[in-house]
Amino acid sequence: MNVLVLGSGGREHALSWKLAQSSQMERLYIAPGNAGTANVGENVELDLMDFAGIAEFVQANDVGLILVGPEQPLVAGIKDYFQARPEIKTSVIGPSASAARLEGSKSFAKQFMVKHNIPCAKSETFTKSTKSKASGFLATLKPPYVIKADGLAGGKGVVICETLKEAKTVVKDMLINGNYGDAGKKIVIEEFLPGIEVSMFVVTDGSGYKILPSAKDYKQVGEGDTGPNTGGMGAISPVAIVSREFMEKAKNQVIIPTLKGLRADGIDFEGFVFFGLMKVGGDPYVIEYNVRLGDPETEVIIPRIKSDLLHILDGVATKTLSECDVEIDERTVTTVVLTAQGYPGKYKKGEGITGLENVKDSLVFHAGTKLASGKIVSNGGRVMAVTSYGADIPGALKKSYKSIDLIDFTGKSYRKDIGFDLVKQKA
Ligand code: AMP
Ligand code: GLY
Repeated sequence: MNVLVLGSGGREHALSWKLAQSSQMERLYIAPGNAGTANVGENVELDLMDFAGIAEFVQANDVGLILVGPEQPLVAGIKDYFQARPEIKTSVIGPSASAARLEGSKSFAKQFMVKHNIPCAKSETFTKSTKSKASGFLATLKPPYVIKADGLAGGKGVVICETLKEAKTVVKDMLINGNYGDAGKKIVIEEFLPGIEVSMFVVTDGSGYKILPSAKDYKQVGEGDTGPNTGGMGAISPVAIVSREFMEKAKNQVIIPTLKGLRADGIDFEGFVFFGLMKVGGDPYVIEYNVRLGDPETEVIIPRIKSDLLHILDGVATKTLSECDVEIDERTVTTVVLTAQGYPGKYKKGEGITGLENVKDSLVFHAGTKLASGKIVSNGGRVMAVTSYGADIPGALKKSYKSIDLIDFTGKSYRKDIGFDLVKQKA
């Protein structure tokens, strides 16, 4: 089968690396891809939001399956576009725009959770016209206060405020001053949940589902989880807090009710569901849904899937997922993200990257890289993710950090403490 992967991050390199190993794979295309994906398939220049352009490519190249990496094309309706054109014989792995509202609108996600009794933080939604009521609701909560822009904000739409004064300023910034653009025209204010965060992933064909490995990512740029949020600085899988007991609770209280709720609401979902969970006193609460895999979580969960990924995706496309095996590698996998100096603020692109050929003990998944005159250069804030297997977290991390020492580019930055909290703590 010919496959097109949409995206250009470490997530898409990890997915392409895995898909390229499938016995069913014929031609693998990645759009737009990066210098790493060019080693496992063929990069093609396509705009992810130009569905007509993608359709033309798919038809010309007999692409049987499109795997959508990031959320934007899903929220914009790429699945619906192809469903409305059955003459184009391809399957889009990813949810419809209606289902993608679980990620695209925090208020929709909250309504959905409340309707289907899925545990989550107490919340209320406000717009400019109901702003005056926001202060009243804030007064019923204890600090810290959690304020979320309703729409997609590239991971920057959640603000946690220590004081009521600060919270009121953020509400005003979002609803009145427009500092968060359209995403902040509607906001969700919610109760703060104290606990440990973990990400769980499920792949579903709309009726059957398979639970994939869980992971923890490190969002903040600074060591000890300090500084501004980023797309993710590293990740670990598995996560010890996902004990057998917690997994059962997550399955029964979150995963099954979510999939059943979607079906009950007539919302078709074929693809990946990413549950951002908080473990509070042993119980799972949903912090957020994403309708795609995470980045850098994919760089640790995909290497732990032993089964043929294309076979699993084909199971989603043909609604035969329940017949597929998803075998998981027991080993621990860690990834550490190398970033350009200055990220998530201003940073330089175009720095030459050397030493990759010396890395033997890790998988290097490229993110912001490209080929320039045959040389690999940096092309984004997150440059690459260095992934390693180990018997435990310290064992895997040791390999990732050793490999990082072999890779060089001007401004190479990374967190040296990925997994710091998990190494200390027990299930
Ligand atoms: P989100 O984009 O919804 O994942 O939120 C970003 C981050 O804010 C999460 O990863 C959490 O660390 C934090 N967060 C969001 N909602 C809450 C909440 N209700 N209580 C505590 N922390 C939260
Ligand atoms: N690493 C978090 C995300 O992909 O949303």
